[in-house]
Amino acid sequence: MTDITGYIPELIEKAFDMRKFSYAPYSHFRVGAALLSEKGVIYGGCNIENAAYGPSNCAERTAFFKAISEGEHDFAAIAIAGGAEDASEFGYCAPCGVCRQVMAEFCNPESFKIILPINAEDYKIFTLKELFPESFSSQNLIKT
Ligand code: THU
Repeated sequence: MTDITGYIPELIEKAFDMRKFSYAPYSHFRVGAALLSEKGVIYGGCNIENAAYGPSNCAERTAFFKAISEGEHDFAAIAIAGGAEDASEFGYCAPCGVCRQVMAEFCNPESFKIILPINAEDYKIFTLKELFPESFSSQNLIKT
């Protein structure tokens, strides 16, 4: 997929929609994600917290792990929407470093798009390379 433009409204809507499934009783910060595969399939995800804190999972990784566990390995874009559970307005919710590392495992840094909406009309788009330059990847493990 070279052009994700036509998918942007659906990805943003789905990312906000997935916040309803967020399990965030500790932070009260609800995040939703919508991950677009190269085939045009959209996988949703939400953050899932845990009383032990460490096992908590971000919305982005939930979406990636759902997709990968169903055999999908080629991704074009992700939309991420986050805010306090009682928020009526949103700020840009950039992915955490751990999620960027997971994206780097599966996505082309030059072409994979990260869409950060604050609403349907107002959003920023970055490539993975812009948000995660000089990353450690499988390329570093290749012996020369
Ligand atoms: N969180 C995400 O799910 N994605 C992000 O991009 C940022 C943070 C979650 C983790 C935790 O459940 C809550 O938001 C507060 O950090």
